[in-house]
Amino acid sequence: MTRGRVQRTLLYAGWVGVVLGIETSCDDTAAAVVDEHFHVLSSVVESSLDQHRAFGGVVPELAGRAHVTTIAPVIRRALHEAGLDPLAPALDGVAVTSGPGLIGSLLVGLSTAKALALVWDLPFVGVNHLEGHLFAPLLESSDLTWPLMTLLVSGGHSLIVFQPGPGEHEVLGETIDDAAGEAFDKVARWLGLGYPGGPEIDRLAHEGSPDALKLPVSMVGDDLDLSFSGLKTAVVRATERHPEVPLADVAASFQRALCEQLLRKLRQALERYDVKGVALAGGVAANSALRSGVTQLAREFAVVCHLPTMAMCTDNAAMIAAAGLFRLRHGGASELNLSASPNWQLAEVS
Ligand code: KG4
Ligand code: ZN
Repeated sequence: MTRGRVQRTLLYAGWVGVVLGIETSCDDTAAAVVDEHFHVLSSVVESSLDQHRAFGGVVPELAGRAHVTTIAPVIRRALHEAGLDPLAPALDGVAVTSGPGLIGSLLVGLSTAKALALVWDLPFVGVNHLEGHLFAPLLESSDLTWPLMTLLVSGGHSLIVFQPGPGEHEVLGETIDDAAGEAFDKVARWLGLGYPGGPEIDRLAHEGSPDALKLPVSMVGDDLDLSFSGLKTAVVRATERHPEVPLADVAASFQRALCEQLLRKLRQALERYDVKGVALAGGVAANSALRSGVTQLAREFAVVCHLPTMAMCTDNAAMIAAAGLFRLRHGGASELNLSASPNWQLAEVS
């Protein structure tokens, strides 16, 4: 699809202008305003991470309670920073993550979004969180062209997605057990590092040798599914056998084995599908080794590489507003009786 055609599809299929996005699927309470050209006018994220650290993972009840106290001030700030009147903002729609995610957390955002849409008499749309991640590159790359291959790797999900055009997605492969970020977090926990573990392992890996431990690269077959739980177990076994190996070496060896699997699968996907660009999305897209591996792959396949900034890798509401803007333009407004869908698969989005 050419850039011109894509722009027309995105911009003119039913007019919707400025959209407020709300995201509360996990531990981040986020609100953002995105305009009709997919420019981010504001993006506010408040995390309750500090409350979860001691537990080594997100505690659903704490996350839900934190959203209740944070959501109104976060929305007010997002409207203010976008230059809108918080009492009567000049908006054209409200978009909110309605799944997948933690049920208690999703319900806070969903109820708030419905109430605002009702009071302001605006169209309202429930957005799939994963589709939101897929829209993040559009907010930052002026040269985004389709077809696009995206590697979406976060704390809850790991998928390889082929996108023939905006809003179209074919899931080519996904994890059959843990998500990539979950593997980072579990290995970090085993090593006695803090939560979330990904950034800490990434930092430590710079000081270590990836050759120190021999770790298996899982899923060497032809299909594009992913698996990380075997690697996690292999790290546990290897460190029990070789307790003398420095932490930085363990981190570097683990990171290389994990990234190698992701990059091999992405390479297989690029060999099979003709695309114009490759994109990274999700929290693990912040990983420095993965970013440089994907950059090299893109160079090799002569396609444009879209690496989101750190703020766009992790959960935010601008990506939800962008996906919502697209859905609203294509007639996808939701009814006000929409419920939260904690297990909503990307493949079910139409
Ligand atoms: O997308 P995200 O903010 O939340 C989910 O929707 O899951 O992703 C959070 C995940 C965590 O598992 C965290 O450890 C991982 O992203 N992460 C990283 C890095 N930064 C965050 N993993 C590897 N390397 C990083 N630099
Ligand atoms: Zn996410």
